[in-house]
Amino acid sequence: MPRGSAPTADRQTRISAARVHNDRVEAVLFIGVQGSGKSTFYHERFFPTHVRINLDMLRTRQREQILLNACIEARQSFVIDNTNALESDRARYIPLARASGFRVIAYFFETTLADAIRRNNQRSGKQKVPAAALAATFRKLQPPRWEEGFDEICTVILSTENIFRVQSRSREA
Ligand SMILES: Nc1ncnc2c1ncn2[C@@H]1O[C@H](COP(=O)(O)OP(=O)(O)OP(=O)(O)O)[C@@H](O)[C@H]1O
Ligand SMILES: [Mg+2]
Repeated sequence: MPRGSAPTADRQTRISAARVHNDRVEAVLFIGVQGSGKSTFYHERFFPTHVRINLDMLRTRQREQILLNACIEARQSFVIDNTNALESDRARYIPLARASGFRVIAYFFETTLADAIRRNNQRSGKQKVPAAALAATFRKLQPPRWEEGFDEICTVILSTENIFRVQSRSREA
């Protein structure tokens, strides 16, 4: 299209889509023990729209910070796919995301210890974590609280038929 001419309907649609997307940039924090289904859920629900930030993959907090900052700067929705068991773990992300205008959403993966151990046992190689480490995370896990700065808190339960059931509560509700 020549510079300066009126936008085509197609271009206008793209501009509108980008605006809607920008209005809805999301910082999603997963919270759940190892084997609670977080990464599986990411691939099912967020893969096409949100960048996955995962400490196991990135290996260091410095590399995580670089990717996080890139998402913030680019106004790109992202998911923090870590256990994020403690409020102090979550505080690494929430104030920054809020200050940058992102909608901050918690996904809390509720599971029994026995179910998480059973699912963990289905994994092999590095993905399988020692049962003691899983139990330690289970004991220290702090459920998300509104005071941490979330706009929405969702609870995820993996049913016995392996279907994710999500219950959402908004701060505005
Ligand atoms: N909906 C599902 N259907 C079938 N299997 C599932 C489902 N969700 C999780 N699983 C199985 O449970 C195991 C653990 O799931 P997943 O790797 O997603 O957990 P995680 O919370 O990401 O764990 P980690 O914190 O260690 O990365 C995997 O072997 C996965 O195949
Ligand atoms: Mg995972």
